[in-house]
Amino acid sequence: MSARVIDGKAVADALRTEVAEAVRDLSAHGFTPGLAVVLVGDHPASRVYVRNKSARTVEAGMRSFDHRLPPEVTETELLDVIRMLNADDAVDGILVQLPLPSHIDASTVLLAIDPAKDVDGFHPVNAGRLATGTPGLVPCTPLGCLMLVKSVTPSLDGLDAVVLGRSNIVGKPMAQLLLAESCTVTVAHSRTRDLADLCRRADILVAAIGRPEFVRGDWIKPGATVIDVGINRVAEPGDGPSLLGDVAFAEAVEVAGAVTPVPGGVGPMTIACLLRNTVAAACLRRGLAIPNALTAFG
Ligand code: GUN
Repeated sequence: MSARVIDGKAVADALRTEVAEAVRDLSAHGFTPGLAVVLVGDHPASRVYVRNKSARTVEAGMRSFDHRLPPEVTETELLDVIRMLNADDAVDGILVQLPLPSHIDASTVLLAIDPAKDVDGFHPVNAGRLATGTPGLVPCTPLGCLMLVKSVTPSLDGLDAVVLGRSNIVGKPMAQLLLAESCTVTVAHSRTRDLADLCRRADILVAAIGRPEFVRGDWIKPGATVIDVGINRVAEPGDGPSLLGDVAFAEAVEVAGAVTPVPGGVGPMTIACLLRNTVAAACLRRGLAIPNALTAFG
């Protein structure tokens, strides 16, 4: 058997098209959503991410506000920038690129972002809303994963889901999203006993454990949907680094019903969901309904 390979780039392109359409409608009604991205220091990978985010924001017709701060900026100075963005009505979404330099406490910074503008969905108020089924902003990567699952399985009612990984950014919100879709959810992690047996029970398996090719083909239930969140840079002898997921793709594709590749699976969804969240934040702040095309993930 050969699994369906889920094309994350195609799903992300379709979502970005819907976002651009929603932005056109909102602009015609007198406001254009805006996203502020704050980058501290010159971490090379972060600079690339931030450049991509800004370019995609403008492509979708939104306003992009970039704030580059030097690596030696103090926590107080960074908090002042966030307060200024919280108060700026042209800014609907605020994203502070992580990681931050070690002299700055990331949780203090994330707590300072107005939850209504928290397009990363990292603020405890938004985490609480997700846990209680209240409308709010949901972290982009797990939201993208859910959209990919629903692109192949529109109804998840009663399915067994296993989430491998328990981070605040992926594992925990992913589990909440699947629970809200009426899955029976198990969150597993590096200390879980009999991981392979547990994974073999999953109709939906989300791997976000950060270890290259950790999930083997014989851990996968035949026909399952497998979502690979891993982006592991591995040095190949003789070659430059190559990207490997958390799932042994060549084995998984022989067993699963559907599987995401790395690259080209979850990765492209994250920025598309960030744009989606910026439109959602713009609507929620003004008491408007989020456009249907951005809420129906099927
Ligand atoms: N650094 C790497 N990924 C992310 C993300 O999704 N959000 C933020 N704020 N920083 C990141």
